[in-house]
Amino acid sequence: MNMYDSDRMADILATDGYSRTHEAENADLVILNTCHIREKAAEKVYSELGRLRKIDGPTVAVAGCVAQAEGEEVMRRSPNVDLVVGPQTYHRLPELLRNLNHSKNLIDIDFPVETKFNKLPPPDNIGVSAFLTIQEGCDKFCAFCVVPYTRGAEYSRPIEEIICEAEFLVEAGAKEIILLGQNVNAYHGCSGGLAELIRILDSVNGLDRIRYTTSHPNDMSDALIAAHAEVLSLMPYLHLPVQSGSNRILERMNRRHTKKDYENIIRRLRAARPDLALSSDFIVGHPGETEEDFEETMSLIERVNFAQAYSFKYSARPGTPAAKLTDQVPEAVKIERLSRLQELLGLQQLEYNKNFVGKYINVLLDRIGRKKGQLAGRTPYNQAVHVKIPDSLNQNDFLGKTVPVYVEAARPSSLAACIVEEKSSERG
Ligand code: 5AD
Ligand code: SF4
Repeated sequence: MNMYDSDRMADILATDGYSRTHEAENADLVILNTCHIREKAAEKVYSELGRLRKIDGPTVAVAGCVAQAEGEEVMRRSPNVDLVVGPQTYHRLPELLRNLNHSKNLIDIDFPVETKFNKLPPPDNIGVSAFLTIQEGCDKFCAFCVVPYTRGAEYSRPIEEIICEAEFLVEAGAKEIILLGQNVNAYHGCSGGLAELIRILDSVNGLDRIRYTTSHPNDMSDALIAAHAEVLSLMPYLHLPVQSGSNRILERMNRRHTKKDYENIIRRLRAARPDLALSSDFIVGHPGETEEDFEETMSLIERVNFAQAYSFKYSARPGTPAAKLTDQVPEAVKIERLSRLQELLGLQQLEYNKNFVGKYINVLLDRIGRKKGQLAGRTPYNQAVHVKIPDSLNQNDFLGKTVPVYVEAARPSSLAACIVEEKSSERG
């Protein structure tokens, strides 16, 4: 979502004559769009600000969730910051910058009644795969998480507004839309929720692929599970965080579901869509996590089998209930558990990817690859693929298309493939 927000900040500043540059040295304005989810991300802001202090000239703004959570503290710790703006007020950036008087620093971390979405211009710089925020904030209050405080209460954008933005994106060349929200399956901008929205977007001409992220197990409705079975443009991939496989820890996390609830949802999803690729988030070393609890997470992973996963050491966040618990897990234990967990997940991912070697798979080629003669894209199952394009073929003919590619090799987090000339087509 920060990537989406950064783009929208660039869009609104473009109306005031700003354009993007890749070097801070050349910039009139540098905005750090920040993340507060774990301590490491939040601390990075200050090292980056330290680096910017050595550059003479640019106005420095701190946006995002560190701005929201720390407000004045950002300016106290880093006097070179001119402006602090939260995730719900960045539509005011042009006005804030115009009012900026360098002797008086500015902070705007309101949760305004008006929504930024009505104030932002239509998106610019649209790629083959585009993000679209449909929901923001969260009312779940997991004990470890800052999101309900930094992004605020759950807010769903009206459905008409979303359809309008989706049509605009597709018109501009997007073939895939990734629906974004901190708790996206809690979307309630229409009576049928996310499932209804997906079915409506499925009928947008020219939109080939729909994805959504990120979800909470308790909002995995019957209708949404059915959409996975029936809506062909809804890609067979789901990121559904479980965080832990121990009921005791799930309860302390205030997740309001058990491991069995989670596994039942997975079972129903797989019955609806047998080839569904699953991804999850895991936290190791949550306060109170014993070796036994951790083993339960490991065995849940073994039972479910994940195609992708993100895993983190618990990071105590100021103001969250879990940070106040007295039975914090020592850092060395967290490190050790994380490495065991990642080894298991890495093996599962590699095994999953190996199933594709020697086969053809459709890839939406959405960007130029890092190496010469290479494009990159994703399979329906969200695997990243690096695709070699033979010299005899023109790269540009393939960019933005869904093309069957031949998979040559599998790595834990990507596939290597090539286009076989006689087999290549422009099938959608
Ligand atoms: N410590 C570690 N990981 C966290 N996450 C959220 N809060 C914390 C925290 N305090 C992880 C969760 C969430 C993902 C976005 O970040 O796994 O799903
Ligand atoms: Fe944070 Fe997700 Fe829990 Fe909301 S559901 S509090 S965003 S971890």
